[in-house]
Amino acid sequence: MSNTIDNLLHEARRFPPTEEFAAQAIADAGLYERAAADRLGFWADQSRELLHWHTPFTRTLDWSEPPFAKWFDDGELNVAFNCLDRHVLAGNGDRVAIHWEGEPGDTRTITYAELTAEVKKAANLLTSLGIRAGDRVAIYLPMIPEAVVAMLAVARIGAIHSVVFGGFSAESLRSRIDDAEAKLVITADGGWRKGRVFPLKDAVDAALTGDATSVEHVLVVKRGENEVAWTEGRDLWWHDELALVDADHVAKAFPAEQPLFILYTSGTTGKPKGILHTSGGYLTQAAFTHKNVFDLHPESDVYWCSADVGWITGHTYVVYGPLANGATQVMYEGTPETPHPGRWWELIEKYGVSIFYTAPTAIRSFMKLGRQHPQKFDLSSLRVLGSVGEPINPEAWMWYREVIGGDTTPIVDTWWQTETGAIMISGLPGVTTLKPGSAQVPLPGISVDILDEAGTPVGKDQGGLLVVTEPWPSMLRGIWGDPDRFRETYWSKFGDKYFAGDGARYDKDGDIWLLGRVDDVMNVSGHRLSTAEIESALVAHPFTAEAAVVGAADETTGQAVVAFVIIKQNQLEQTEALDVAAELRKHVAEQIGAIARPRDIFIVSELPKTRSGKIMRRLLRDVAEGREVGDTTTLADTAVMSSIQAKLS
Ligand code: PRX
Repeated sequence: MSNTIDNLLHEARRFPPTEEFAAQAIADAGLYERAAADRLGFWADQSRELLHWHTPFTRTLDWSEPPFAKWFDDGELNVAFNCLDRHVLAGNGDRVAIHWEGEPGDTRTITYAELTAEVKKAANLLTSLGIRAGDRVAIYLPMIPEAVVAMLAVARIGAIHSVVFGGFSAESLRSRIDDAEAKLVITADGGWRKGRVFPLKDAVDAALTGDATSVEHVLVVKRGENEVAWTEGRDLWWHDELALVDADHVAKAFPAEQPLFILYTSGTTGKPKGILHTSGGYLTQAAFTHKNVFDLHPESDVYWCSADVGWITGHTYVVYGPLANGATQVMYEGTPETPHPGRWWELIEKYGVSIFYTAPTAIRSFMKLGRQHPQKFDLSSLRVLGSVGEPINPEAWMWYREVIGGDTTPIVDTWWQTETGAIMISGLPGVTTLKPGSAQVPLPGISVDILDEAGTPVGKDQGGLLVVTEPWPSMLRGIWGDPDRFRETYWSKFGDKYFAGDGARYDKDGDIWLLGRVDDVMNVSGHRLSTAEIESALVAHPFTAEAAVVGAADETTGQAVVAFVIIKQNQLEQTEALDVAAELRKHVAEQIGAIARPRDIFIVSELPKTRSGKIMRRLLRDVAEGREVGDTTTLADTAVMSSIQAKLS
């Protein structure tokens, strides 16, 4: 049973670009040829073309001390100038940068000229508070325009932001503040979520009590209008302070390798890692991928990425990529189901969104709710859809295309990580013949491979571990304060090749299929099975809304497949009298083979997910193995585990 993912790889549907789309597409097949002929020359050309360099670079890559790369390192630029002033100087100041929509329905339209003016003032404010180039500023804000302003203001003065997702607890915020030794926190009184105000300033206060901290000031944006406690001398209102500073600010150039941000992400164990990104290389790949992967025509497109700025997707594809490219985008504060389950689709109709980028988990929740909600709205403005964050199963891909994309839009399935900074593997709309469920090919200028445990490339129709074989412009430059962990985590397994931590497989055409984190790969009776593959089989069954699969220790087989399944609302009645678990076990065996048949299937009403929507399989594994459930503090809803356990007992 070596071909256990045949189920996925037998996906036969193909979607070649239409002639009409290809004719207007930004990307063309020549990009691959140019990059293959001279990879470094290709990136140098892209960087010169897409960015404004105050001091042009003459060196493209310095890889003399791997794994510490330097890109364009004798050049100088200002990241914020690239995202703002230069568009105004080019005559596009009146173009809308952000159509912002608050959850309660309040709106703001912000042009490039207005955003530039705001950021200039904010940069002066930061300077007046003693923030200098290289200092760290923590940002803990809801999805409001000030989040973008704050990030760009920090970047403009050469300081380093560390955005902490607003859903993280005071404790997580504190550990991130301490690790980076942040001097300033920018937060809000509160933000809107699920129809009510959630407090943020309270969490900052809680984070800063106790032992002395590095934080000197807390800037507070007024958004929720909720009451807040105030520490005189430390706390300052954002709007009051901005009213006092100069409107003018000249962007100074910084070296290409000036640190831009730290973003914390969880490792397999231990404390979160502060992933460090720098300026010139990061912005080059952010702009290149945003333009080519989404086929961005900045003068006519309306782009929307639903990610929060607290995650890497929000950094690269809400802030830096779109703004570097002068795009017009939608930014939404709240949750998709508030005040009604069609809110996202309503926004797409309202703003005429043409490019939409979201996560498979969101798509599957919408599938669960049913197509009647999107069908109430006119989604015909959409012309490109994107997916990110986890493998998208072919059923979800097809639903996304048919129901949201009117059966016409290309879907780009984009593989990348916090560490990679920008998209690495994806089809290009207008060029690639798309395959539902496969992320397909490395982008031009990116070199990846799939290796076996011994480090040998596996070749077509084989699976193994995904690596990046050559340095890339937006690669992480390290883990903040921990060079050893950086080497150990990513560069010790295969020497100078970057180990991504994902399993992957080439199909017969050489297209890449992501199989999930290798920590989620199961070994059943000596056979490798991917959780993604079995989940995909389960959700392809008409009963199933969502499924999560874990490998649980088993005396006989090493590991056994255990599945947690949510049944579709409209199937509940029909399935009442059936042995649903038996039916699904049979289905998986039919789809993949007997080896993949789950030992146990538990029907549950919810799955444990992090605030970014990732299923926490570690907790399900605890349940499956009859252990006490581990740390649940990063769950969006900590009650989910009790409800699952109650179902099983
Ligand atoms: O397992 C891969 C999965 O998400 C991981 C990276 O997570 P994070 O750093 O939070 O960044 C998410 C947004 C870029 C990867 O190691 N992943 C991301 N995109 C895909 C994916 N898995 C399959 N297909 C994707 N398109």
